[in-house]
Amino acid sequence: MTQNNTGNSATLTVEGKSYTLPIITGTEGDKAIDISGLLQETGYMTLDSGYKNTGSCTSAITYLDGTNGILRYRGYAIEELAEKCLFIEVAYLLIHGHLPTRTEFDNFKYLLRRFALLHEDMIHFFDHFPPNAPPMSILSVMVNSLCNYYPEMGDDPLTNIDMTAARLISKIRTIAAFSYKKSMGHPLVYPRPDLNYCGNFLNMMFDKPVHPYTVQPETVAALNKLLILHADHEQNCSTSTVRLVGSAGVNLYASISAGINALWGPLHGGANEAVISMLKTIHADGNNFKKYIDKAKDKSDPFRLSGFGHRVYKTYDPRGTIIQEACDDLLLTLNISDPLLDIARQLEEIALNDEYFVSRNLFPNVDFYSGIIYRAIGIPTNMFTVMFALGRLPGWIAQWKEQQENPNTKIGRPRQVYTGEPAREFVPMNERG
Ligand code: SDX
Repeated sequence: MTQNNTGNSATLTVEGKSYTLPIITGTEGDKAIDISGLLQETGYMTLDSGYKNTGSCTSAITYLDGTNGILRYRGYAIEELAEKCLFIEVAYLLIHGHLPTRTEFDNFKYLLRRFALLHEDMIHFFDHFPPNAPPMSILSVMVNSLCNYYPEMGDDPLTNIDMTAARLISKIRTIAAFSYKKSMGHPLVYPRPDLNYCGNFLNMMFDKPVHPYTVQPETVAALNKLLILHADHEQNCSTSTVRLVGSAGVNLYASISAGINALWGPLHGGANEAVISMLKTIHADGNNFKKYIDKAKDKSDPFRLSGFGHRVYKTYDPRGTIIQEACDDLLLTLNISDPLLDIARQLEEIALNDEYFVSRNLFPNVDFYSGIIYRAIGIPTNMFTVMFALGRLPGWIAQWKEQQENPNTKIGRPRQVYTGEPAREFVPMNERG
């Protein structure tokens, strides 16, 4: 490709013929070469394993600058939203594109309260999961099943998007808490109208008849901040999954359930659980940091530093910085000292002074410290990725809605380069040697 970017077009020369391709420039100057007509015009497609260089859509929801560590939701800096907003305020912002007025906020809060319960028949589902069923598998099954109980999703969900979004954002919280209670063999605790979104979740998780739980403002504030920091992140693996599944015209609940499964992966949202397991392993191995740093650098060893590296951020993940501070504040307030935090800090220090990590721009990401806060709150490790899903849900809904509202949306259907057998004659079974 020649670098002849004349203003808003690029020239591609292939087999001696030149083609002009439009250049798209985003709000913040991010540029893309539009290849929508490439195959038809040139007979060539592009190949981009893992879509490292490929934009799947235009979007007005979230802006990431991986070089400078910038993250904004609908133009607002994540630092400001995390400091000054409630999670459901940010959920409204992502879905509607503006911060809610007091009336809009109160209406949304009313809907979240109204839809907090599960259909009682759904509660029996929990009786049939095996005791050690992974919470992420329960979450995706239960969310997918919501379309059986709320068939109106088959109508136009966009006309009732506030109701649809509130129903899902509220019920996913109940599903998560009920799945935990069932796994512990404890009686279910139902949502309370007097508690806010995060306070209700904590109470449903930890309140017990014989040992009442006190909802502490510091814990609520820490959870609120974590959910905001996880709320959206442009076209990551799980969000792209929600869009791809949604592009086939399937309902919101099924699209979100697909996103939950993508998030479950240890390379994606599952990393927050993997970080704790890694830190525990290092701790049990006498804090032998060098051994694990060497393993992470050894190409013949599948071990990687969980919570380190990112496809987009080539500097600190801005969310990780905020989480570290929230971590210190909460542990100080709750008077908790977690040895895994010290190990995480030491591991980070060593890695960021090692040429292997520095030369590859590998920094702690959102998952590196979040598990320390979840531990301090009392959330079990196998529910950390469920917490990620609770936070990410408004972003998934906003991205799904943006795609459904776009009249130019087409079903997602990537191509491939075929590297299999050339055409060959069929050989009957008895002649196959
Ligand atoms: C999330 O996309 C999003 O926005 C995701 C997310 C969101 O909010 O939705 O931010 C949430 O998923 C955060 C990432 C959580 N995952 C982990 O922490 C798992 C550990 N990280 C890596 O597996 C990796 O860094 C990824 C998956 C996050 C990114 O992988 P890429 O972009 O495909 O990069 P790569 O694997 O090609 O790595 C480039 C180089 C390779 O070495 P070389 O081939 O150049 O020699 O860096 C190395 C990799 O081996 N590398 C690591 C490493 N991460 C990358 N080496 C050791 N430990 C690591 N963690």
